[in-house]
Formats: sequence, C-alpha cells, structure tokens
Amino acid sequence: MRFIASYQLPPSRQGSMTYRIHNFILCSWIFPMLGVFFLSTVCSQAQNSLVFDPAKFVVQTQDFQGKTLKVRAYEKVVYVANPADAGQEVMNIYIPEEYFNNGTINGYNAETAPIFFPNKVGGYMPAQPATFIPQNGGGSGGPPSLAVVTALSKGYVVASAGARGRISPKGKAPAGIVDLKAAIRYLKFNDKLMAGNANKIISNGTSAGGAMSTLLGATGNHPDYEPYLKELGAATATDDILGVSAYCPIINLENADMAYEWQLNKIHAFKFRGKEGTLDVNALKVSDELMKAFPKYVNDLKLKDNAGKKLELNAEGEGSFKEYVKSYLAASAQKALSVGVDLSKYAFLKIEIDASNRSKVLSVDFDGYMTYLERMKTPPAFDALDNSSPENQLFGTATIDKRHFTSYAVQKSTSDASTMADAQQIKMMNPMNYVGAKGAKTSQHWRVRHGAKDKDTGFAVPIILATTLQNKGFKIDFALPWDRPHSGDYDLEELFNWMDGICK
Ligand code: DHB
Repeated sequence: MRFIASYQLPPSRQGSMTYRIHNFILCSWIFPMLGVFFLSTVCSQAQNSLVFDPAKFVVQTQDFQGKTLKVRAYEKVVYVANPADAGQEVMNIYIPEEYFNNGTINGYNAETAPIFFPNKVGGYMPAQPATFIPQNGGGSGGPPSLAVVTALSKGYVVASAGARGRISPKGKAPAGIVDLKAAIRYLKFNDKLMAGNANKIISNGTSAGGAMSTLLGATGNHPDYEPYLKELGAATATDDILGVSAYCPIINLENADMAYEWQLNKIHAFKFRGKEGTLDVNALKVSDELMKAFPKYVNDLKLKDNAGKKLELNAEGEGSFKEYVKSYLAASAQKALSVGVDLSKYAFLKIEIDASNRSKVLSVDFDGYMTYLERMKTPPAFDALDNSSPENQLFGTATIDKRHFTSYAVQKSTSDASTMADAQQIKMMNPMNYVGAKGAKTSQHWRVRHGAKDKDTGFAVPIILATTLQNKGFKIDFALPWDRPHSGDYDLEELFNWMDGICK
C-alpha cells in the first residue's frame, strides 16, 4: 500500500506523455499485478495457518481388548482459515504411536493407513469432534469413542471434525456439510505432513450424522459448495472421499414425508417427541395426501432391481417397488434366522421349514410388519406444518429460524411464518441430487445400514439411496439389520472388515 501511495509524479509532469505512459503501465499492469500479489499473499498466509504441525500433540493411552493403545492426539485443530464458528470448526486427529517408529498395524503403515472420519452430528445439531478418551456428557448424538478406539486398534488414523448445526450462529443448511467438506480438504492439503493416506478417507455417521456421511460421499468436489468453502477459507484441496459408512441416514428430506405415509398410513397410533396419541382427522387427511403423492416420486426415479426389473408403484401404492421393500425385510429376517434368532412369534413372517429342518422366510405381510414396527412421527414427519421439526430449523436463515422445504407443507402451513427455504439450500442437503451427477466425484464404496425396527424415516428412503447407487454403478453394501432401532456403530467388526476390504 505504501508503495502505491508514494508513486506520484511531480505535478509539473502530470498530464505529460511520460505521465500517461506511466499511468498506462500502472493501471494495466502494475496495479493488477500488485493486486494478484497482494491477494495471493493474503491467501497463502491464510493457507499457511492451515499447515498441520506434527509437533503439536499430546500422548494418550487407553487399554482396549487386552492391549494398551498409544496415540498422538492432535485435538481441537481449527481446520479453516476464516472460521464462522471457531468453537465447532475444529478437528481431532489421532495417530497410532507405531507409525512414528516405522511400525505396522493390521498390514498398514504410516503411508498406507486409511483415515477413518466419524462425525458426531445428531439431530442436525452442532457437533463436537469424536474423542479417543471418552468425554463426560459432552457433544451431541453420534458414535461413542468406541468406533474411534476400534479404528485405531485396527491401524486406522482417525480424524473427526466438529461442525455447525441448526442452532449455531451461521449454522443453517448447508453449514454442517460445508464444515465437514472443509475438514476433508484440510486432511488432503496436509497429506504429506500427516501419517495416513488422504486418498483413503472413509466417513462414518449415524442419523443426521449418517446424512452428513452420505453427503460427503455423494458430493465430492461439487462446485455448488465452492463459494461456501471459499468464504470459510478452506484449504485448497479436493474433498472427494473413498468410502461412506452411514447408519440410518435421515436424508432425502423433501421426499421423506411421502415415503413415511406410504409405509405407515394405516398405523394411526403414534409416540413422538414425548407425545402419544392417535392421528386425528386432519392428520389422517395429510397422511392420505402424502401417501398418494409417493408413487409418482418413485416412478420418476426409474429405478431397477439388480435383475434389471423396473421398480414401480401404481396409484394404490402397490407394485414391484413395494415387493422390493418387502424383499429387504425378508432378507433381514432370513439373516436373523441363520444366526439362530427365534422368529416364530412374528405372525407377519411366513416361514417354511424344509425336510432338513432349515428355515426359510417365504414372505412378509407388509401391514403386519408395520403394526409390529409402529408409527413414531405424525404427518408430515419432516416438514411439520407448524414448522416445529428439527428439519424446519435446519432450513432457516440467520433471521428466520424455521422454514418449510416442501411445497406441500408451505401450502398447508399452520405456522405464522410459512416461508419456503431456498431451492439451492434444499438441493445441497440432499445426497440424491449428487450421486453420479456432473461435477461430483461420488465415492465408489458405500456401506449403509438401517435398522429393521427403525421408524425415524421410512424404509424406502435408504432403499432408494442404495438402489440409485447400485443403478449408477457404485458399490453398495446395504442391509436392514433385524430388530435394530434407530442407532449406529453396532457392528464395528463387520464395518472394519468392509473398510479393510476396500482399502487393502
Ligand atoms: C435425527 C433423527 C430424526 O428422527 C430426525 O428427523 C433428524 C435427525 C437424528 O437422530 O439425528
């Protein structure tokens, strides 16, 4: 700045040819160059603040499965240069001590170890990063540190980022997913300075955290998020990841109300947010309307099963898509049978016992299954007409706390402030919009679990995700574990076997 201010020709020469030449050079060349220099200096200074410092750690130890795990813990590392919320935009990174002594664990070393990236987002609330040493009470929802400890015992580097949520200042959608993408960029930016291979990042999360995990996997490097990442001063790196682990992801929010009523229209008793009751006439009407809108949504997706058969619904909500959902429930029961679970009490399962005493699930009665499952939420399950759901708050703005995100709810709103969220904001929170889309580097590897006793969202929601991935050529390991309610990380051995399978 001083240089520019001091560049003044004497008044006698202003207006002369020389002055005009000087002026020309200054305006067309030197000023822009200085601008570029200035900007790049500011930017590189900002990026400098994002350089990982390998010396800033504390050693932590914990006994696990008869062994003492020793790790270098880098905690509360701010992962953006220009934080919107420095209390949340922090990451914990844990690296097994062996990797500083040329050691190997589970066939991995400091160069090859994959990076496990669990988030603790729950209820679309702000989240702190997961920790190696269990914390008392802190944080929201999501996986306990057991997943972190298990990962480290199996030779993974663990990086867990906090993220803004729906009640954070500046935490409305898409803030949470932007934060997590920025944390991925930090890991990739610092790949050379840190043990672990940032080309092998696998995210993990449950429920809203599962949604975040699927968003990370679906949206890799997509330009929609770029302006938000720039504003935070995210590291200059890509943000695509190798794999996704998601438990009961609460996704596809603008279509999930229809899916819920298609599934539970006949179940009128509910237990939801501390209230119990039976749907009244108004709610039944809403349920009917949403249910009737679901077949068009499904049919427009043009999904196919793995034999190439079209998955569709007729106007009554019957058809190959419904049979397909039932086949996943039957597969779930079959798997439980195969490990000796007694399913004889479930009249909705038709089970045949063959001559050699092997049991086979022949069919599932859909209505009977839903009676067993029960209804949790009142319609609309996500875009509440009174704007009272967590998702309404997710789609707010800095000045309007809660907004609708479906045209159905905005039309029928009973809330005083019945405004609709921005289309782009809604788009950016739905991984379905990005799977295999132009501009997105979608993860190749997916593992999704949704409990067969989970009623936080309809089975169609994760099934549509899994089928879309499969139809678009991505590798998806999907199941509805029998009798599991809304929860995650309950099968860590299987999860890490799957991760080893894609990393080795
Ligand atoms: C979560 C659960 C829900 O039922 C929901 O609508 C949103 C989030 C959760 O557990 O994260």
